[in-house]
Amino acid sequence: MTAIKAILGLLIVVVIGIVGFAYSGLYNVAADEPHFGVTRWLLNTTMARSIAVRDDDIVAPDNLESSARIDRGAQMYARICAGCHLGPGVDPTAIHVGMKPQPPRLKEHIEHHAPANLFWIIKHGIKMSGMPALGLTFDDNQLWDLVAFLQTLPELDAQQYRQQTAGKE
Ligand code: HEC
Repeated sequence: MTAIKAILGLLIVVVIGIVGFAYSGLYNVAADEPHFGVTRWLLNTTMARSIAVRDDDIVAPDNLESSARIDRGAQMYARICAGCHLGPGVDPTAIHVGMKPQPPRLKEHIEHHAPANLFWIIKHGIKMSGMPALGLTFDDNQLWDLVAFLQTLPELDAQQYRQQTAGKE
């Protein structure tokens, strides 16, 4: 009984602590201040684990290398993603510079994600980061077009990126 009372007491203290912290205004939400190392670690680890346990059943179509898919994906990327994630040779935009966490330049990140993992991120987005859920607006086939284009991104230099997305911004 005393153990249950002690646990309940502790829980109440924790809840009061969390609510008190929110009301105190101590946490700085400004996006021009860097995250604490521990906040960054928590966000990254939560994101990676959350996606890893959810993307198991996603099967990529076998025509991801089709040039029609890649072309359509490039067009979508230039219209929807480049304002935040930029692209090879693309100058930083005000949105890219001003966001926290900052949308990464994806060229160096693609190799860390399997196609199913990329598909999940694009479809569902990432809460508390500004990464939107595109699955609310586009169908799965269009999202695979984007994944197909992203597979080619690590190999593209600035000129090839410009050609691939020319007239599509
Ligand atoms: C409004 C800005 C914004 C737009 C538009 C946007 N993203 Fe993001 N995206 C983000 C942010 C911010 C993150 C970083 C999340 C984090 O690290 O916590 C992110 C993360 C990602 C990641 C994970 C990168 C990694 O390895 O950490 C991928 C992949 C991605 N976005 C793809 C896309 C694609 C493809 C599009 C276009 C369909 C897109 N994003 C549109 C802001 C955006």
